[in-house]
Amino acid sequence: MTNGHSAVVTGLGAWLPPRIVSNDELSERLDTSDEWIRTRTGIRERRIADPDTSTVDMAVHAGGNALRSAGSDVVDALVLATATPDHLCPASAPQVAAALGLSGIPAFDVNAVCSGFVYALATAGGLIAGGTAERVLVIGADAFSRYCDPADRSTVPIFGDGAGAVVLRAGSAEEPGALGPFDLHSQGELADLLIVPAGGAKRRASDDPHDHYVTMQGTTVFRHACARMAESAKAVLERAGLEVGEVDRFVGHQANLRILLATAKQLGLPEERVVVNIGHTGNTSAASIPLALADACADGSLLPGHRVLLTAFGAGLTWGSTVLTWPDVKPGQAD
Ligand code: UT7
Repeated sequence: MTNGHSAVVTGLGAWLPPRIVSNDELSERLDTSDEWIRTRTGIRERRIADPDTSTVDMAVHAGGNALRSAGSDVVDALVLATATPDHLCPASAPQVAAALGLSGIPAFDVNAVCSGFVYALATAGGLIAGGTAERVLVIGADAFSRYCDPADRSTVPIFGDGAGAVVLRAGSAEEPGALGPFDLHSQGELADLLIVPAGGAKRRASDDPHDHYVTMQGTTVFRHACARMAESAKAVLERAGLEVGEVDRFVGHQANLRILLATAKQLGLPEERVVVNIGHTGNTSAASIPLALADACADGSLLPGHRVLLTAFGAGLTWGSTVLTWPDVKPGQAD
């Protein structure tokens, strides 16, 4: 029975591959240093999926943890945000659903790269608002380490692998956990700024691995990220009728500590309200926001009742935001 048309967070899960790769380890094989990576990005280490662990595997771990957190494995749709699916065709979400014992439910991928989790929340919220689903598992999972040129110091230190998830249920807009309005945008004319050039319908797979590595014009992307994240945060707050001062926690996409702090500064938000976990995760793309939520819950910096602003930015370009009051939900864990 539908008890409302708002999407309410009722479960949270995270999963990181066990292998830790420190900046010092990278410095042994790349022309970089712990000092450069830490001061330019805030990253100390990242997790890298071993060759036997795919995006689907990570999504299954995080999704299972979110279902445990929700106290029920009943969901009637699954939305997977990823830009690094196991295969170009088919989508990965049906395999995630099957592995979680959810075969039969609608399951599909959303690709908005690093903004994917916010886009997937909006999509899942739409399924609930339209009465198509009552409970939706939303997962963000990416393995960008698979797409980095091992010799490229401009991407290898930045990206890490991981997955995070929430369970949404139908409820009322007044409840803690209810997702507020969304602000979503794209700018496809800037697609080349962060791109995997070949392997799609535009340019078929080639023998040169360089055609299949992610390339990023970092400084330009950086500038767009700072401007668009601040704009989007302001727009969603206005839509929600909130002032910046009413935001207790800013959970932004963890691409670079300097982007998070620059965005907070533009908003006039004190640094202590900015959730930062990039130090041990790196940029995990679509996984970064739920991973940051899980870390903040676990260390006690995100508490029930906190008003939380979620803002993401990524390749596409894409960006977007939403707001919610954090409910009494803690990350779930496997036994
Ligand atoms: O996930 C969403 C999308 N992604 C992002 O939002 C990422 C946005 N971009 C960034 O975070 C930053 O642009 C980077 C961290 C990628 C790069 O930082 P930057 O401050 O923009 O550095 P830069 O690319 O302008 O390079 C500055 C200097 C250059 O040397 P010169 O030309 O000044 O001598 C680079 O060659 O740093 C050099 N450099 C490095 N040095 C040591 C670039 N990468 C490295 C490195 N180690 N890994």
